[in-house]
Amino acid sequence: MTKQIVVLASGSGSNFQSIIDAVERGDIDADIRALVVDRLCTATERAAKHGINFFVVNRKNDKEINQRVLSSICQGADLIVCAGYLSIIPSTLIAEFPQKIINIHPSLLPKFGGMGMFGMNIHKAVIAAGEAQSGCTVHFVDSGVDTGEIIKQTLVDIDNNDSAQSLQQKILVEEHKLLPAVIAQLLS
Ligand code: GRF
Repeated sequence: MTKQIVVLASGSGSNFQSIIDAVERGDIDADIRALVVDRLCTATERAAKHGINFFVVNRKNDKEINQRVLSSICQGADLIVCAGYLSIIPSTLIAEFPQKIINIHPSLLPKFGGMGMFGMNIHKAVIAAGEAQSGCTVHFVDSGVDTGEIIKQTLVDIDNNDSAQSLQQKILVEEHKLLPAVIAQLLS
């Protein structure tokens, strides 16, 4: 039977797009069953364009209802992929899907992870710390924030003239290669 992926996102969905492209190219042998977003965001436009179901579990709704909806959408999924999803994954979902929920984070975890480390905050902190390298990490999701077992990382060199914005762009290019590659590997 064809493997099933559920993708969770909160933003532009460029990582989600990299998964769509990899599936359409045949690099990932699976179907994207659904996109789940926790707010209105442009990731849903990508889903609509490619005929993928999408669901909004508004983060301001009742938490328990959201958990049940999320759990029901994910039933039987082979992999749940957090691709720029900004809400905390409910512990019930983590318990239901051990080693089946992965996340992409735009730093070399365990560095620059944890509460408050999202979006541009990460890249600003990396530049302020004078790091020579940053990168991206795909890891399993556990009950902590960015603490799950690391699956794979890509390193990116930081140049003297890099800003937080240019670093974000350089890392995003690598995210779009790393995430589909890890998904293909985990599903094979
Ligand atoms: C990416 O940098 C991802 O690593 C982080 O949030 C960003 C999402 O970007 N968790 P996009 O919505 O996939 O374009």
